[in-house]
Amino acid sequence: MERTFVMIKPDGVQRNLIGKIISRFEDKGYRIVAMKLMQVTRDLAERHYEEHRGKPFFESLIDYITSGPVVVMVLEGKDVVAGVRKMNGATNPAEAAPGTIRGDYALDIGRNVIHGADSVESAQREISIYFKEEELLNYEKVTEKWIY
Ligand code: PPS
Repeated sequence: MERTFVMIKPDGVQRNLIGKIISRFEDKGYRIVAMKLMQVTRDLAERHYEEHRGKPFFESLIDYITSGPVVVMVLEGKDVVAGVRKMNGATNPAEAAPGTIRGDYALDIGRNVIHGADSVESAQREISIYFKEEELLNYEKVTEKWIY
């Protein structure tokens, strides 16, 4: 089953959006296989966003991601990488459709509430940066036998 990496960014935590955002993913039918509240260090943030080093927004992105606690999680489900990206909405909230998380909750690209991995490969890399193998749980919900 496909897995993705998701982060509720510091503004999402500060604005009490954790529960609302997790509910959306649960309602969709994705399974949470790992989750934690944590403070991201600069070193960790720079590893996560390594591919953007040197871009004009890199330093402000690192300042933002390290500015307060975040919630990181691993979600599992059919086509979950693309599905979560759709639910998150466009990176720039000004272009995000209503009904998406960024479309409903964000205004600025520098405070866009949520991150979702952009490919299966990125998801694997990001999961391994934020989680130890033993933190990823394998379990079944009884309801999954007959409903998402
Ligand atoms: S690029 O250059 O097209 O690859 O960049 P993009 O995919 O649009 O964005 C990469 C991540 O950087 C974040 N970003 C920003 N953060 C703060 N300020 C500014 N101006 C800014 N521009 C882009 C963007 O949200 C992406 O992070 P994630 O966490 O994947 O959303």
